[in-house]
Amino acid sequence: MPYKTLVFPETEEGVALAASAALAGKLVAFPTETVFGLGAIVTNQHAVERIFEAKQRPANHPLIAHVANAEGLKSWVQTPLPRLASLLIDQFWPGPLTLVLPKSDRMPSAVTGGQSTVGIRCPAHPIAQAFLAKVGVPVAAPSANRFGRVSPTCVSHVLDELDGRIDAVLSGEPSNIGIESTIVAVLQEEVVLLRPGSITSDDIEKVIGQAVKRREQSDAISTIRVSGALEQHYSPMAKVVLVSAEELPNLLAAPGDSSIRVLGWSQAFLSASNQMAAKLKRPSLSLVSLPDNPAQVAIDLYSQLRQADHDKVNLLYIEKPLTTVAWEGVADRLKRASA
Ligand code: TXA
Ligand code: MG
Repeated sequence: MPYKTLVFPETEEGVALAASAALAGKLVAFPTETVFGLGAIVTNQHAVERIFEAKQRPANHPLIAHVANAEGLKSWVQTPLPRLASLLIDQFWPGPLTLVLPKSDRMPSAVTGGQSTVGIRCPAHPIAQAFLAKVGVPVAAPSANRFGRVSPTCVSHVLDELDGRIDAVLSGEPSNIGIESTIVAVLQEEVVLLRPGSITSDDIEKVIGQAVKRREQSDAISTIRVSGALEQHYSPMAKVVLVSAEELPNLLAAPGDSSIRVLGWSQAFLSASNQMAAKLKRPSLSLVSLPDNPAQVAIDLYSQLRQADHDKVNLLYIEKPLTTVAWEGVADRLKRASA
C-alpha cells in the first residue's frame, strides 16, 4: 500500500493534527452529518488532484468546498450573495444543504472541474465544525468512497474504501443523516434542485417563498454537470431490485439458489416478507426491517448496502419508497443503487 493511513482520535489534539496535515497538503477524511468526506484544502492543487486519484474518479467532476460558517465562504464566491442564497444560509447552515453559486477568481478551477460555479457546504457535525474552523480555508471534499461506490457513514467504512490510499482519517461519531446533502443551484432569482436529500424541496420552498425548479425546468442550469446525477451511483455489489409488497411474494417464490435479502420498513411490506419467509423456509433468504420513516431509513441505508455485500448477498429486494416529498432523498439513492 503506497500510504500509511493514520487514524486521528476525535479529541482536540486529533483535530489539530488533522488540520495541520490538511494544511500541509495531505488528504484527510473527516466526519460530517451526511456522509464522511475526503478532504484537501482548495488552495493546494496537487492535494486536490490526489483526491481524484485516491477515489479513482474522473478528473473533471466538481467538488464541494466545505466551510465552518457563512463568513468562511466570502471571497470564494461572488458577492453580494443572491438574496435567496442568504435566506437559505440563514435557515439551514450549518447543516445538510449545499449551495452552488458563481465562484470568485480566488476559488481554483481544479475544485470546480473548470466550471464557473462552486458547490459550498457548511456541515453541522461537531468534529467537522472543529476541523474546518482550525483549517481556516475551504476544504474540498467528495464523499470518502471509491468512485461509483456507496458513501461511508462511519470511520470503518472509510477505511474499507480508502485505507492505504489516503493520508489520514479524523474520527468522529457516525453520520446521523446518512445520505449526501441536498444540492441546490442558486442562480439569479431561481433555485434549482440538483440532488435531493434530507432537506426537501418543500422545506426549501417554505424559506424562499417560491417554487424550487427541477433541473429540466431551468435554462440557466442546462450547462451544469452533477456527477451523482449522471451515472449509476451508490451501488453495492449485490443486484438491487425495488419492489412493492404486492410484487414481493411472486419474486420470492421463483426458484433459484442465489443468496437473497429483503429489506423493508412498512407494515404491509414486512408482513408480506415474513409470510413468504415462513412459507419458503429457505436458509439463503434473510429479512431486515428498518423503522418506518424516511429519516431513519436514510441513516441505515448505506450501512445496510455494505452489510449485504459483506454477507455475500447476490440479490437485494428493497421496498419501493413512497413517492411523497418526504421520501425524495431516499428514493433518489435507491433509484441509483438499483440502476
Ligand atoms: O453530503 C455531501 O454533500 C458530501 C459530504 C462529504 O459533504 N459530499 C458529497 O460530495 O456528496 P460528492 O463529490 O460525492 O458529490 C458532490 C456532488 C457531485 O454530484 C458534483 O457533481 C456536485 O456535487 N457538484 C459539486 N460542485 C458543483 C457545481 N459547481 N455545479 C454542479 N454540481 C456540483
Ligand atoms: Mg459521492
